[in-house]
Amino acid sequence: MTTPSWQDTDAYIVEQLVGDDSVLTDTLQANADGGLPAIDVSAAQGKFLHLLARSVNAMRVLEIGTLGGYSTIWLARAVGEFGRVVSLEFSPKHAAVARANLAAAGVGDRCEVRVGAALESLPVIAAEAGEPFDLVFIDADKENNSNYVEWALRLTKQGSIILVDNVVRDGAVADPETTNPQARAGRELIDMLKAEPRLDATVLQTVGAKGWDGFAYALVTS
Ligand code: SAH
Ligand code: DHB
Ligand code: MG
Repeated sequence: MTTPSWQDTDAYIVEQLVGDDSVLTDTLQANADGGLPAIDVSAAQGKFLHLLARSVNAMRVLEIGTLGGYSTIWLARAVGEFGRVVSLEFSPKHAAVARANLAAAGVGDRCEVRVGAALESLPVIAAEAGEPFDLVFIDADKENNSNYVEWALRLTKQGSIILVDNVVRDGAVADPETTNPQARAGRELIDMLKAEPRLDATVLQTVGAKGWDGFAYALVTS
């Protein structure tokens, strides 16, 4: 047998443990029809986010970077009927596609997509002084990841989880000389996580349908 590729292995895992889901397939099709880039989390990663949110009984989730709402749907299913997902998206076009996808998925009522630069929406959310978020998923412009984690700290509580997508970028994050802006942002984020006493963190590398990348995972400890 030849060595299966990351993609083949992901396809097998998804076939066995994630399964066909017409709502999610339709979401990806609507994204493609709308001309959105195919940079959603993978199916296996989406299910991971979903299980993680359920594992901590998350009722309030904040997402930064909605795109077409693929990851939002996975998270919205996890918080249940009485939970809430607030998702921040810069592009009005992406937000419109996402809102339609969330409605079609039957989770529109528990989701709120806020349009604008996240660094402008986050102070508004803080000023509203709602309940803290149980989980924050950061997946927008990577250059602002450290800023987003700073905001996430203000909007969470001890025991909350902060996840950041795309910090590994084909391993470029470990290269101190890298000129890849996303990998540089990954290094800056890791420096920040290391220095931040209110967080305990690791990075989990991932391979699969989306190539080689990884999530930063941080626990709010105080
Ligand atoms: N979480 C999505 C993928 C998000 S892709 C999923 O897995 O399905 C990244 C998204 O972040 C894009 O839609 C992009 O428009 C948005 N984005 C980029 N810069 C942003 C900013 N400054 N504020 C809010 N959203 C931003
Ligand atoms: C890319 C992947 C992502 O998951 C993302 O959020 C942004 C960009 C990419 O591969 O370019
Ligand atoms: Mg991403």
